[in-house]
Amino acid sequence: MFNPKDVDENKEFIELKRSRGYTYEDSVEISPEKLPGYHDKIKMFFAEHIHTDEEIRFIEAGSGYFDVRDLDDKWIRILVEAGDLLVLPAGIYHRFTCDKNDYIKARRLFIGEPVWTPYNRPADDMEERKKYIDRMKCQKA
Ligand code: LAC
Ligand code: NI
Repeated sequence: MFNPKDVDENKEFIELKRSRGYTYEDSVEISPEKLPGYHDKIKMFFAEHIHTDEEIRFIEAGSGYFDVRDLDDKWIRILVEAGDLLVLPAGIYHRFTCDKNDYIKARRLFIGEPVWTPYNRPADDMEERKKYIDRMKCQKA
């Protein structure tokens, strides 16, 4: 948890960005009023997908749900609220939805030039998916 009001002065947050190499950041608001093409985008966010890089979100305001697949391929629902920092590893199947308040403001962080491309399931032949599975196997054994 980081206070969104003074996160940029927070030494722990600054150090976290430095040590993990998060050199890029921007801020997005998702709501029917604030996000152009809201209906199409929210559909995209809720389609199960992976990325070739980490998905890093710091929640500045509002709330929503990230669903991630566990090792048995069951959904785990993660409620994210203002102050939360979520880091999804590359290759994990996930999706996002707003909650009944239909509003979230999230800072997107990235290592270098951002790549937001989602690869919808099935994406099991992708290198990042295979690497993710290998890492998880080690942890399960
Ligand atoms: C994304 C989230 C919605 O890819 O998973 O931006
Ligand atoms: Ni995603």
